[in-house]
Amino acid sequence: MKTYLVGGAVRDKLLGLPVKDRDWVVVGASVDDMLAQNFKQVGKDFPVFLHPETGEEYALARTERKVGPGHRGFDFDSSTEVTLEEDLIRRDLSINAIAETESGELIDPYGGREDIGKRILRHTSDAFVEDPLRVLRVARFAARFHHMGFEVAPETKLLMTQVVEAGELGTLTSERVWNELELALTYQAPSEFVRVLRECGALAVILPEVDKLFGVPQPEKYHPEIDTGEHTLLCLEQARKLTDDPAIMYATLVHDVGKGLTPPDKWPSHYGHEKSGLRLLEDLEQRLPVPKEFAALARLVCEHHTKLHRVQELKPKTALGLIESLDAIRRPERLEKFLTACEADARGRTGLESRDYPQQDYLRAIHKAILAIDNSEVLKAADASERGNPKTLIQKARLQAVSETIEGLRSE
Ligand code: CTP
Repeated sequence: MKTYLVGGAVRDKLLGLPVKDRDWVVVGASVDDMLAQNFKQVGKDFPVFLHPETGEEYALARTERKVGPGHRGFDFDSSTEVTLEEDLIRRDLSINAIAETESGELIDPYGGREDIGKRILRHTSDAFVEDPLRVLRVARFAARFHHMGFEVAPETKLLMTQVVEAGELGTLTSERVWNELELALTYQAPSEFVRVLRECGALAVILPEVDKLFGVPQPEKYHPEIDTGEHTLLCLEQARKLTDDPAIMYATLVHDVGKGLTPPDKWPSHYGHEKSGLRLLEDLEQRLPVPKEFAALARLVCEHHTKLHRVQELKPKTALGLIESLDAIRRPERLEKFLTACEADARGRTGLESRDYPQQDYLRAIHKAILAIDNSEVLKAADASERGNPKTLIQKARLQAVSETIEGLRSE
């Protein structure tokens, strides 16, 4: 029996990146051999074991045969005869199909090292098309390694398109899809995830709300890039410079989906897109398991981002209403997330990437003035006739604080 390090660990080491999980493949061993060495079996679909001391994953080398639709429709052969090369060829990308022996020698039958050198994401074999999850994985790797110069090979793009056209993405569970999307939102270039999925037609299946934005024009005066889809990608790029928080990235990704509902005869204006977008976000949340906090932030950004852009023109009552809609009095951290997503929106425009965005500090000052109000003092100071309705009293005090703050800001 022989053991090899495989997959992401070998790839990341060759790329000079830190190695997180180490996966191993075992050739020439049976389930009983593994159990006899105190490995603990964990795989449901095929034999995978945990090492008794390190807890790392060891899988028996296996071949796969497609027997049904989808990501799980496989029959496996993990007999002791299966070779390392047979195991490696079933893997998604050449850069993920390199093995390392215990003495550090690389076994690379499918040109993984060459593709790492050329910065190419290339499928290992035609078996690529048998697992639709790989379409999303390739887009995710494109997002992850874009800053290192990686691109998807044209022949791999063709296979991805084939998988999409065969309707295979529909067999993926919503959890799998969300998992890939959420991971992509944590990488250096989430915009590449969207670009690559769009090129092969997968975006229209996974995120039709975002796909629809391509080809939809906006007023050139505010959006020199014009196209709403391109604007969304630029926003993701700006957001990445501002935050690591995937919830903010998600909110940025979907902030303008309402523009996809504007009838073409109304283009390039998008009156009411903030509210109409909310309906689409609901659809999206029905389809994918968007975590609550992501969904809540995305709805707020969708509905209120244009208000922040115009915050200096808002009446005190509307400004107070914005703070209340954001629930920013109870949750100041949410205000900051909202402000960041709006900043990304303001800067995700060609030529405006480094513009000032004083709207943030303006709303922060209003928020601070509201937080500074001592509610018990307000109630104490009220005369007897007013005391009946504390809520109204506090509201009045807040409005006054907002008015005074706005006056101060305007006279600066
Ligand atoms: N793999 C595959 N097809 C899939 C999933 C996984 O071919 N649909 C193979 C790849 O060889 C991959 C390995 O299984 O390298 C391990 O998968 P996983 O741990 O999901 O990914 P990694 O490549 O290790 O990347 P990460 O750093 O994201 O864990």
